[in-house]
Amino acid sequence: MSRLVVVSNRMPLGSNPSGGLVVALQDAMEKGGGLWIGVQPDADVLEGAEPAGENAVSVPGANFDRVAAVVPASAYDDYYLGYANSVLWPLCHGRMELIEQRPHYRAAYEAINSRLAKVVARFLRPDDILWVHDYHHLPLAAALRAEGVQNAIGFFLHIPFPTAANIHAVTGVEDVMSWISQYDLVGLQTQRDVSSAMDVFRQFPDSQFLMDGSLRFRNRTFEIKSFPIGIDAAAFRDIAARSRARLAPRARRWIIGAERLDYSKGLPHRLRAFGKLLETEIDLQGAVSFLQIASPTREDVQAYREIREELEQLSGAVNGRFSDINYTPIQYLNRGVPRDRLAGLFRQADVGLVTPLADGMNLVAKEYVAAQDAEDPGVLVLSGFAGAHEQLGQHALIANPYDIEQMARTIAAALLMPLEERIERHQAMLRIVMEQDVAWWSESFLNALEAKRLGSEFLS
Ligand code: G6P
Repeated sequence: MSRLVVVSNRMPLGSNPSGGLVVALQDAMEKGGGLWIGVQPDADVLEGAEPAGENAVSVPGANFDRVAAVVPASAYDDYYLGYANSVLWPLCHGRMELIEQRPHYRAAYEAINSRLAKVVARFLRPDDILWVHDYHHLPLAAALRAEGVQNAIGFFLHIPFPTAANIHAVTGVEDVMSWISQYDLVGLQTQRDVSSAMDVFRQFPDSQFLMDGSLRFRNRTFEIKSFPIGIDAAAFRDIAARSRARLAPRARRWIIGAERLDYSKGLPHRLRAFGKLLETEIDLQGAVSFLQIASPTREDVQAYREIREELEQLSGAVNGRFSDINYTPIQYLNRGVPRDRLAGLFRQADVGLVTPLADGMNLVAKEYVAAQDAEDPGVLVLSGFAGAHEQLGQHALIANPYDIEQMARTIAAALLMPLEERIERHQAMLRIVMEQDVAWWSESFLNALEAKRLGSEFLS
């Protein structure tokens, strides 16, 4: 069997804050094994790391191999804070006004990927399957091809694909298309993302849509398909059932939200909607609290500092208005919570709020569903802008983050929903979350990539 080699900017290293990518892939890697290669600025000391040749260290201690490509800290900042998170992230999430483009960001982004390609090429065996993850590494396949790598290379984008109109905000967009075309299989989260990608390629005369569903750009043939990412639902359900975490006081109704403190998550809209709910449904004052967990992230990027200030101000305003001696309407935690605690809190909350303005998938929606007690489940309130909407939208309550009053009414409806309807909706969502879990996701992607590999061997 071929070995799986995964590449992503971030690797699971214990101390790291976890986003969806690390959580999902770690679940997949722990079962199947393989090699995970990440990127590490040279200023950060990695505990337990051992030298592994030029510009690389290996990090023992997991049940798969871990290697970090070590890169200069200043170039890392221009690549990670700069091009990845001040150009590509806002672009893909449709926040064009937040894009900050500098020539040296792009140069560092390409240089780091070339350097990473050299490390990957050194560790790679001819029949390894290579799976590259996320927007930090669009040019990696091109750089690997330049190193002479001929392995099948898959790519998965965890965040939304930019729309055909927005993509032109990036200078040198044809290079980006050509980077993407160097992969053999490009996985996106949703059908909507696949349509956006097709629309983008359709704008370029160098693109050809082939009969078998694949795409040709300049001299490369590759495929773009959707593979909605999942969670290890059975494990999360068990953790939730065993967790001892408690929401207190228990007599009160609880609403929960949990994410990285990112401007794509629609947190200000959500806090406003909760304030609106208390203002219009007077009976709920004192009877319902909202726990919002927002773990800090990318704090060296200005837009993230600003959203943090805005949230502090908003939660303070709602609390100032509606608090009482024994009642705090919003409990706002500006830090992460360990997964087993989080699972227990999800299980107890009557309503899970997942209302992003744009989101590749949003695994919290799936975790909230998996964590519920099937006999007395809570209600998922989901926005149409989360990738998860394609799978769960029919059974969740849908809130529009751009309509605060509608969102407040939806939360009220969730709190009032009779048990029978809660069970019916939860059962339908649970079935999807359990069947289309993280193993299903990685197997479907890897099977499709393997088919490409065998196909091209057959042709050559
Ligand atoms: C999202 C991205 C991941 C990223 C994670 C955490 O889920 O898709 O690529 O790792 O956020 O962000 P960070 O910048 O801390 O790696």
